[in-house]
Amino acid sequence: MAKRLSEAGNVRARWGSSAGFVWTAAGSAVGLGTIWKFPGKAYEGGGGLFCLVYLAVAVLLGVGLLLGEFAVGRAAQKNAAAAFRSLGRECAGRSWAFAGHLGLLSSLAVLLYYVEVGGWVLAYVLGYLTEPGAILGDPGGAFARLVGGPGDFPWLGAVWSPLAFTLATVLILRGGLNSGVERFNRLVMPGLLLVMAVLALAVQALPGAGAGAAFLLRADWRGFDFDLVLSALGQCFFSLSLGMSVMVTYGSFLPPRGSLPGNAWAVCLVDTLVAFLSGLIVVPAVFATPGAAMGKGGSFAFTALSGVFARMPGGLYVGLLFYLLLLAAALTSSVSLLETLVTFCAEEWGWRRARSLWGLGGFLFLAGMGYTLSYGGFWPGPLAAGLEWLADRLLIPLAALAACLFVGWVWGPERALGEICRGSRFPGKRLWVWLIRWFAPAAILLILGFGFFA
Ligand code: TRP
Repeated sequence: MAKRLSEAGNVRARWGSSAGFVWTAAGSAVGLGTIWKFPGKAYEGGGGLFCLVYLAVAVLLGVGLLLGEFAVGRAAQKNAAAAFRSLGRECAGRSWAFAGHLGLLSSLAVLLYYVEVGGWVLAYVLGYLTEPGAILGDPGGAFARLVGGPGDFPWLGAVWSPLAFTLATVLILRGGLNSGVERFNRLVMPGLLLVMAVLALAVQALPGAGAGAAFLLRADWRGFDFDLVLSALGQCFFSLSLGMSVMVTYGSFLPPRGSLPGNAWAVCLVDTLVAFLSGLIVVPAVFATPGAAMGKGGSFAFTALSGVFARMPGGLYVGLLFYLLLLAAALTSSVSLLETLVTFCAEEWGWRRARSLWGLGGFLFLAGMGYTLSYGGFWPGPLAAGLEWLADRLLIPLAALAACLFVGWVWGPERALGEICRGSRFPGKRLWVWLIRWFAPAAILLILGFGFFA
């Protein structure tokens, strides 16, 4: 394992290879949001038009901001809070640790519901394997039983499956950065891409699917409006895991040489490919099913989509593969979130890895339960919706804003570009500087403003 001493004297791990880093960062980016939000958003946004706008946003903003976060991490070689603190002190005499803290807080908030929802996906995979009739026969009822309701404590949805999912995340991290996190991602991510491509092809064979694919591939510019751009911007941020200290942390395990722009492009490419493939699976499948309607997010994926699989020839296998893909995507993302928090606890508080893992894992399991209990209605009150709102609408955009203002104005384009160009050529310098100083903060402010008041 590649290790070396950091200034603090603790041992820091390093990625085994550039490909390992790209697959692992892509594993963080490709998550539930990529797979189950993108098709619905693309559908609402007019299909092909949304795809085009999303592509533009991902290429410009996505790659640019990823690059900024990787650069901060690699330059500092520290956990996210320490990275913003030390670079800030070095060049402006002021700690910007709060930018890292905001990101870490968002990671914690997102993890709280990721372990729950990841657990539900696991329960679906097992359900498809052991008693498919129960889900396929009545998808709405099956989901309602999973998350419980008033007077009906959901043992499976709130206790057993999140426990198994949290345990799986912890055990992957137990293996360490290289033999745990990196190896898991290198194994899972290429497989995920392959299975998605196969599924996307197979779905096109359904009668009526062609109209769905055509809808996604044909752009009608008359549908272009501000809401569409806003929706694409928000999706891109969330899907690429920006602003959450995760990409800073992953960047901090990079050796000083190697192409940052190449890596950022590759991560964005994998994430966008998965999003489009998911669109090409979900939208045609819904179009091919009489009476089915598009939607997005968890309730759509757990109920409406299972209804589609129930009526599709071979739907049992398509459904099983689909939930397996979701499970893989959720695990690689939760792994990145927990690694970010564990690295922070180790370097800032001196906790041993095992202690952080079991401590955080236990906390997530106990506190996360509240999400499921409130989602299903066992606990009245908007805890679940509130947590999502806090993470998606407030914490993530705020953290992204802080990170991008830091790179553009505090650390400054000169130092940032110095880091980015170490080990590679970067032809887009002037455009990137303009993006990170003006365009990205403006875009994030829009997301923040509209998300907050919507
Ligand atoms: N990108 C993930 C998805 O598409 C969600 C997410 C946002 C995330 N920020 C993250 C995952 C940080 C891991 C780490 O679902």
